[in-house]
Amino acid sequence: MKALVLSGGSGTRLRPFSHSMPKQLIPIANKPVLAYVLENIRDLGVTEIGIVTGDRGDQIAAAIGDGSRFGVRITYLRQDAPRGLAHAVTTARDFLGDDDFVMYLGDNMLPSGIADAAARFRARRPAAQILVHKVPDPRAFGVAQLDEDGRVLALVEKPQEPCSDLALIGVYFFTSVIHDAIAAIVPSPRGELEITDAVQELVGRGTPVQAIEYDGYWKDTGDVEEVLECHRKVLEGLRPDTGDADVVDSELIGAVVLESGARVVRSRIEGPVVIGAGTLVEDSSIGPCTSVGSGCVLRDTGLRDSIVLDGSSVTGVRGIGGSLIGRAASVTAADKGPRHRIVIGDHAGVEVAV
Ligand code: G1P
Repeated sequence: MKALVLSGGSGTRLRPFSHSMPKQLIPIANKPVLAYVLENIRDLGVTEIGIVTGDRGDQIAAAIGDGSRFGVRITYLRQDAPRGLAHAVTTARDFLGDDDFVMYLGDNMLPSGIADAAARFRARRPAAQILVHKVPDPRAFGVAQLDEDGRVLALVEKPQEPCSDLALIGVYFFTSVIHDAIAAIVPSPRGELEITDAVQELVGRGTPVQAIEYDGYWKDTGDVEEVLECHRKVLEGLRPDTGDADVVDSELIGAVVLESGARVVRSRIEGPVVIGAGTLVEDSSIGPCTSVGSGCVLRDTGLRDSIVLDGSSVTGVRGIGGSLIGRAASVTAADKGPRHRIVIGDHAGVEVAV
């Protein structure tokens, strides 16, 4: 079995971050979402992985490399434009050959892995196997209707009136018959070749398509709220590790990870918290549920339930929460002039207490 990881797409719901970085590289506990994806695939014993990228492919290749770090071999495949998940499969046609493959959307987080689902696919080998998960409002997803044995009766992409509460998770297992089905479909109203339509094409032909109800935690990290919610969930499993970090006159409570060269001075950190390599935390109160990237400076700061990316600084501001702060950004207290002075990029969002 091979794997195909889809990491194109424009990530409009994750602006402004997606203006400058692919959404699959957003860090959760200081590790890109895409790294969790690759680890889950590696844990199936699958080592041949194709990553389909869009125009941010160079950043993905720089972050992930040839895969040897994960014990896998990665082939990068360029999709000319975001023309749909099924189109991405056609882009990878030569790479996939006639092998079975698991297709995994590079922004989907499943922290407890997909080993059971893979074992069931390998044992039964239906033409296609999808994973579904009950959600309160499935309208933002593909939606599946199943019979009592988990066979798929119908699939619809983002229906206004869903026929069930079962959303399609972005992990699919396919045999090579999917390629025929993709060749038979046409672009959807949003102009994309939908994988949901290709699977529905198989169902329509009477080909067996099986669904597995996934009961572990699943999150499509498509917007800031989803990223922060997923971050809280992943941090629940954090184990304390302060390594060689320099801790001076500070209190560390619970699961705190201090990466190499981090320095904590006169501060209180309440886990779960990850402080990145070479980051300085001084006279601050950090956590819980906070990850700070590498090379950051947090001084005289109060920060909780937030993610700060590499190279940023926060100085003299307390009460920050539910925040996602991009790379090399700076947040400082205003000491003169107007009470609030805001310099932010396109599509950014700021909430200020008044
Ligand atoms: C895609 C699929 C959808 C699926 C979702 C899961 O949607 O088209 O069927 O439920 O991923 O993350 P997208 O995120 O591309 O809108």
